[in-house]
Amino acid sequence: MKTYLVTGGAGFIGSNFILYMLEKYPDIRIVNVDKLTYAGNLENLRDAEQNPNYIFKQADICDKEAMEALFAAYDFDYVINFAAESHVDRSISDPEIFVRTNVLGTVNLLNCAKKAWQTGDDQYKPGCKYLQVSTDEVYGSLGAEGYFTETTPLDPHSPYSSSKASADLFVKAYADTYKFPVNITRCSNNYGPYQFPEKLIPLMINNALGHKELPVYGDGMQVRDWLYVEDHCKAIDMVARDGRPGEVYNIGGHNERPNLTIVKTILAYIREHVDGEVGEQLIKHVTDRKGHDRRYGIDPEKIKNELGWYPETTFEVGIEKTIRWYLNHKEWMEHVTSGQYQAYYEKMYSGR
Ligand code: NAD
Ligand code: TYD
Repeated sequence: MKTYLVTGGAGFIGSNFILYMLEKYPDIRIVNVDKLTYAGNLENLRDAEQNPNYIFKQADICDKEAMEALFAAYDFDYVINFAAESHVDRSISDPEIFVRTNVLGTVNLLNCAKKAWQTGDDQYKPGCKYLQVSTDEVYGSLGAEGYFTETTPLDPHSPYSSSKASADLFVKAYADTYKFPVNITRCSNNYGPYQFPEKLIPLMINNALGHKELPVYGDGMQVRDWLYVEDHCKAIDMVARDGRPGEVYNIGGHNERPNLTIVKTILAYIREHVDGEVGEQLIKHVTDRKGHDRRYGIDPEKIKNELGWYPETTFEVGIEKTIRWYLNHKEWMEHVTSGQYQAYYEKMYSGR
């Protein structure tokens, strides 16, 4: 039985990954370690709770003692590091926590995994793998043409992407220096169930359903390359199992769309299927994000050619599934938008 340490598994992508893996493999064990910040939510994992192969521990990946104790308690085969501060806007107002969790937390995990797995000089437990879940944002911003490949130079702009790029460099250093078996995956923007409504798609769905203004930054013509979260989970599973140690894999499905198009797509669906009063009059162009990256676009040829990965969910199907999920989980949305979220929204959007 293979044992996975999944960090940040109570967040958006981590919880989708745990549910995906437990359904796909009845013979694995997953230990989920999450600090339960504002973005972590155990409600996401209701369907895993009863599974005897799933274990949850609340802890901070920066906590050396807690992480060492975990590695002593379990004989892990894989570490999949999702844990991070993940929101660009928050990183602009408060960068320090991004350095702590995303950089120092990653280095702490690398150290603990290396210590636990080392069997000799540059030798490690057979089959073990550390996978760093990273982002295309480390490559910076594209012009109208071209795509990010794995050899595109790192050129992060926001405090968030800078912290992720720093973490990637430490992961690479462990591979280069200690021959430690790692992979780095760099995925484009995800969407799907359980995404915290600070991110574009769930925020717009929630606001539209509540007849609230839809705050589009600047002209709304910034382009993101959207991937349904389950396709990201499938890619991570494939890379962890079969990715060549030391390699970076970009993940994306050539689905680039300007933000304004995304917002209009959501509005059109809700207007047609849910509430005829919802329409484009709700769109409000607000002050742009500082240092806003104009365009992201992934070249996924490497993961397609080497591992046979391809995205299964088209945007048309994925966005409809996503909107329906939020419609069917109004209680989830109510819980995550009560309390702290109101203050966050006020701070970020009032008078903008
Ligand atoms: P998220 O913010 O929804 O979840 C992050 C999780 O990490 C939360 O459960 C939180 O409680 C936990 N966490 C935060 N700090 C922690 C700490 N110090 N110790 C332990 N747990 C901690 O993020 P997400 O959107 O699910 O992203 C997961 C990972 O994927 C991140 O590393 C992010 O950089 C990367 N990524 C995200 C996207 C995207 O579109 N969301 C795209 C590419 C890569
Ligand atoms: P976001 O979901 O924060 O992801 P990222 O910044 O990591 O790409 O934002 C996606 C895009 O949507 C980005 O160009 C910023 C824009 N955006 C808005 O226009 N309005 C909003 O309220 C939010 C949250 C994002």
